[in-house]
Amino acid sequence: MKQAQLQQVIKQLKGFLETEKYFGIKEYISDGNYKKVTKMSKDKNNSSQHKEKSLDEIRKRVSSCKKCSLYKERKNTVFGKGDINARLLFIGEAPGKEEDLMGEPFVGRAGMLLTKIINSINLERKNVYIANCIKCRPPLNRPPTEDELRQCEEYLIEQIKIINPKLICTLGKYATLNLLKIEEPISSLRGNFYEYLGIKVIPTFHPAYLLRNPKDKALVWEDMKKIRSFLKNESI
Ligand code: URA
Ligand code: SF4
Repeated sequence: MKQAQLQQVIKQLKGFLETEKYFGIKEYISDGNYKKVTKMSKDKNNSSQHKEKSLDEIRKRVSSCKKCSLYKERKNTVFGKGDINARLLFIGEAPGKEEDLMGEPFVGRAGMLLTKIINSINLERKNVYIANCIKCRPPLNRPPTEDELRQCEEYLIEQIKIINPKLICTLGKYATLNLLKIEEPISSLRGNFYEYLGIKVIPTFHPAYLLRNPKDKALVWEDMKKIRSFLKNESI
C-alpha cells in the first residue's frame, strides 16, 4: 500500500473512532423521563390527526410543485419524516442523491452520521422530526440558490408551524442562514440559541461537513449536550 493510501486509511479510521467516541453507543445517557417525547392524551390524539391531515395537504402540494427549476430533475420530492409531535426538529439543507431516490431525508452517509448524533442524546429518529429547507435535489448536490430557498420557504414555514417543536436544530450554514438570516460563519453561530417563528433554534455543523472534518465532532457533541439539557428542562 502506498503511503498516501495508508494515510487515507488512517484518517478514515481516526474519523470512525472519533464518531464512535462522540456519537457511538458508549455515549448513551439514560436519563429517565427525558425520553418522554410525546404525551398521548385524547386531546393530543385529536390534534395529532389534525396535524397529520395538514401535513399531508402540504406534502401533496410539494409533490406537484414547480415553483423553481429544481422540479425538472427530481425523482422524488423529500418532504420530511418523523414524529409530527416531536419536541426536536432537525432542519438540513436539501436532498442528495439517495434522498432523491428514496424520497426521505438524510438516508445517505451524512444521514447515518445524523442517526448516530441523534442516538447520542438517547433519542431515536422516530422520536424527532427531520426536514430540509429545500424539498427537491439540486443538481450535482450544489448548494441551493437564494431564489430556490425563498421559493421553498413557505412549505418549511407551514411545516414548522404545524409540528410546533420546542427546539429546532439547524444543520449547517445554509439551513442556519435560511432561518436566522444572520451572515456569520456557522462556526461562530453554532451552539448558541436563537429564535425563529417564536421557536428556539440552535445551529450546529452539518453531518456532511463532519464527515470531511471529523475533528469538529467534539463541538457537535457539545451542542447535542445543550439540546439534551434544554429539552430536559422544558416541560412537555
Ligand atoms: N443533506 C441534507 O442537508 N439533507 C439531506 O436530506 C441529506 C443530506
Ligand atoms: Fe417547489 Fe421547493 Fe421543489 Fe422548488 S425545491 S420545485 S420550490 S418543492
